[in-house]
Amino acid sequence: MSVVRVGFAMCGSFCTFSQVIPQIAALVKEGADVYPIMSQMAATTDTRFGKAEDFVQQIEKICGKKIISTIAEAEPIGPKKLLDILIIEPCTGNTLGKLANGITDSSVTMAAKSQLRNNRPVLIAVSTNDGLTAGAKNIGMLQNYKNIFFVPYRQDDCEKKPSSLVADFSKTSVAMHSALEKIQIQPMLL
Ligand SMILES: Cc1cc2nc3c(=O)[nH]c(=O)nc-3n(C[C@H](O)[C@H](O)[C@H](O)COP(=O)(O)O)c2cc1C
Repeated sequence: MSVVRVGFAMCGSFCTFSQVIPQIAALVKEGADVYPIMSQMAATTDTRFGKAEDFVQQIEKICGKKIISTIAEAEPIGPKKLLDILIIEPCTGNTLGKLANGITDSSVTMAAKSQLRNNRPVLIAVSTNDGLTAGAKNIGMLQNYKNIFFVPYRQDDCEKKPSSLVADFSKTSVAMHSALEKIQIQPMLL
């Protein structure tokens, strides 16, 4: 079987990084060639969840590649047909809104635009506190778009954060293999 070329794009949902990074490692372990991508926010912001530089180093070591973090670096994904699939994980409410409305002003949205122009799949793993409020219409729009697939997701903490949604990151690989066949894994809503 040929090696799957995966773009793995991380947005600024910092609290999920410790769960998401092991998914990158798991894809590498299963033989995928992973191209790491980070939004500028994700690549440069120190938070209580860790230092940006530490995350960048960790991810580059896992993938054996430099992180793509600018629009200019992400642009060749389209013309060079670099990726079989682009995974956006974690995908913020901010990036969901841009993707749903055709806005391309970050490395991650540029990577998505480049990938979609080639009629190739984009897999989204949401993590946003406005998933059932302002972000809901964006998720709904994206679910209606060609070549967009979702890692199954659920309410995060319905008592304390009733509008928050988060993907089950442990389903990344299985959702990816399904999306590569252009099939949305089910159930999508957990
Ligand atoms: C500590 C911290 C945690 C955040 N967590 C989230 C989150 O889980 N989900 C989300 O949608 N935005 C979250 N944000 C806000 C995003 O980082 C912000 O909207 C940013 O503009 C996203 O940019 P990006 O989509 O290009 O990565 C968080 C911000 C900070 C500082």
